[in-house]
Amino acid sequence: MLARFFTRLIDAQGVWARPLGDLNHRLLTAVFGPLRFLKDFLNGRWLGHPVHGALTDLPIGIFLLVIVFDVLAIPGAASTALFIGILTTLGAALTGYADYTDTDGRARVVATVHSTVMTVALVVYIVSLILRTNSGVQTVPIVLSIIGFVLVSVGAYIGGEVVYSLGNMVNRHAWRFSGTPKWQPLDVTDVPEGVPVKAKAGAQSLVLVREGETVHAMHDVCAHAGGPLSEGRVVDGCIECPWHASRFELRTGHRKRGPTTHDQPLYEVRRTEAGGWEALRLNGGSAGPQS
Ligand code: FES
Repeated sequence: MLARFFTRLIDAQGVWARPLGDLNHRLLTAVFGPLRFLKDFLNGRWLGHPVHGALTDLPIGIFLLVIVFDVLAIPGAASTALFIGILTTLGAALTGYADYTDTDGRARVVATVHSTVMTVALVVYIVSLILRTNSGVQTVPIVLSIIGFVLVSVGAYIGGEVVYSLGNMVNRHAWRFSGTPKWQPLDVTDVPEGVPVKAKAGAQSLVLVREGETVHAMHDVCAHAGGPLSEGRVVDGCIECPWHASRFELRTGHRKRGPTTHDQPLYEVRRTEAGGWEALRLNGGSAGPQS
């Protein structure tokens, strides 16, 4: 009931959040376009986990400490905590913007509301810090810190909506598989050299790529946001997703370029006696250590 009310409230912000989100998207794409390595780093491909979700806990905890120090009348500690909280918020914002670049549809709208609320909170905290440092005023900065914390909490809730309700940066294969993998016949007869081919193995869609005598296979649904890899292209021993250009190594399914932070489920392919093809799943596409 309450969640539905909040969802309606967030969706009502689409009037301004949609055009602002589209503008932000164009700006961020222009900024990160030539800085792909930086975006990859901020997304968390190296970690096998989105960095943004891990970082956001820091400022929330630190900003709570600011209130505690204010209540205990330890202004020096409150100012120091506030300064550190602002720095960690900037770090969280950078990683958030990297993830935000690859959102679309409703996720982009909600992410825009989230980032706007967090930006307002950041400004409120910066004003609070300036007042604490440069003036003798006591009450106003404390009130501003409390307002900032309310805003950060609201922003965190909306950010959770982007992940938990809309599945942004969630592994698309998290619940796909169960049971012991079995060899499954493939519905293809021809796999031409170097061209991605879509094939069905039971209920799963695969993408096949031939390199000489070897036929590589992985799940067709991109772990990042569900893009069709069979519509992508083969580059440097990887298949590149047509949606946000994540790359997965054909040989291993490992993520070689973000925004994905997860590997792709890999399959082994072999000829059947009847001259067709069959496939066996080798892994679940988990986000293990990168190799
Ligand atoms: S769906 Fe985003 S990179 Fe594939």
